[in-house]
Amino acid sequence: MRVFVAGAAGAIGKQLVPRLVAAGHEVTGMTRSESKRVLLSQLGAVPVIADALDPHQVADAVAAARPEVIVHQLTSIGPLDTRHFDRDFALTNRLRTEGTDYLLSAGHAVGVRRFVAQSVAAYGMYARSGGPVKTEADPLEATPVRDMRETLAAIRHLEDAVLRAEWTEGIVLRYGAFYGPGTSLAPGEEQFELVRTRKYPLVGDGGGVWSFIHVADAAEATVAAIEHANRGVYNVVDDDPATVAEWLPALAKTLGAKKPRRVPRFIARLFAGEAGVMMMTEIRGASNAKAKRELAWRLVHPSWRDGFGVSSGAKLPADGLRA
Ligand SMILES: NC(=O)c1ccc[n+]([C@@H]2O[C@H](COP(=O)([O-])OP(=O)(O)OC[C@H]3O[C@@H](n4cnc5c(N)ncnc54)[C@H](OP(=O)(O)O)[C@@H]3O)[C@@H](O)[C@H]2O)c1
Repeated sequence: MRVFVAGAAGAIGKQLVPRLVAAGHEVTGMTRSESKRVLLSQLGAVPVIADALDPHQVADAVAAARPEVIVHQLTSIGPLDTRHFDRDFALTNRLRTEGTDYLLSAGHAVGVRRFVAQSVAAYGMYARSGGPVKTEADPLEATPVRDMRETLAAIRHLEDAVLRAEWTEGIVLRYGAFYGPGTSLAPGEEQFELVRTRKYPLVGDGGGVWSFIHVADAAEATVAAIEHANRGVYNVVDDDPATVAEWLPALAKTLGAKKPRRVPRFIARLFAGEAGVMMMTEIRGASNAKAKRELAWRLVHPSWRDGFGVSSGAKLPADGLRA
């Protein structure tokens, strides 16, 4: 199939494009940067330069590629201060609102038969009540903390726009927290360094439930969705949702760090805001049963314990995660 990937040079795009090419698809990869043409060609895509926030550029790029499937992997997540979550997600929120609308409109014009979009199973997207692990049928958070309202609204906009597009098969992939190459949860990268240097404390009871996903496994699920998903939502997470109280000390140990400091909620609120405290203590995890059942998806890293190098007790190699 002809597949148009918006965000082809990102953490997930770099994993996805070569897999699509290996599966025999013709891939067009979109980037803003002339300098990423070479990278995209090396990954096996035909590069196209366009700004996702310019509807004319997006329409022209899609029209030239004549794709059968569009994949939306656009985000712009820089350094995050969780006290100002919406401020730091402002550009990503535009990519999830305007960017989604422009891609859908461009796809409609050429009649794409599938539209696959990145969404989120992490950060408190699911309601922070009821059981610890959510399926796609469970309700989303109705009363987000103040600093995350715009971010969750943008994700809902993306999901609603994609699922309501009757002219195409709209597929929403709610990814767990990414780790692995190109992400901030990888050896030497920001989040691992915060844990290693004991600057990532355990807040309150650490009862927030996190669902992780290795970017390579996320890419595998995305290929399957591109090829044969039905319209709807799929959680793309690993088999092992875990509380912060469980995964954070385990990761610290693997990185050779001391145990994380413990900080009460009221202190954490000062440096991490409501959003940060909520993510540490209240969020729920997600179930991948539907994606495994319907996409025939097999994970290489079924658990973050293995992916982080925790289960074996082995220290991570300096050059990356274990295969
Ligand atoms: N589920 C999750 O946990 C999750 C989800 C998303 C991101 N993250 C993490 O956040 C970190 C950084 O992510 P990121 O958001 O910077 O993603 P990224 O991995 O750099 O990918 C974002 C993609 O969006 C494209 N893009 C952004 N703005 C664009 C625009 N105006 N026009 C065209 N393309 C545009 C970028 O293209 P060019 O730069 O090539 O133009 C890039 O390919 C990574 O650690 C990533 O893993 C995690």
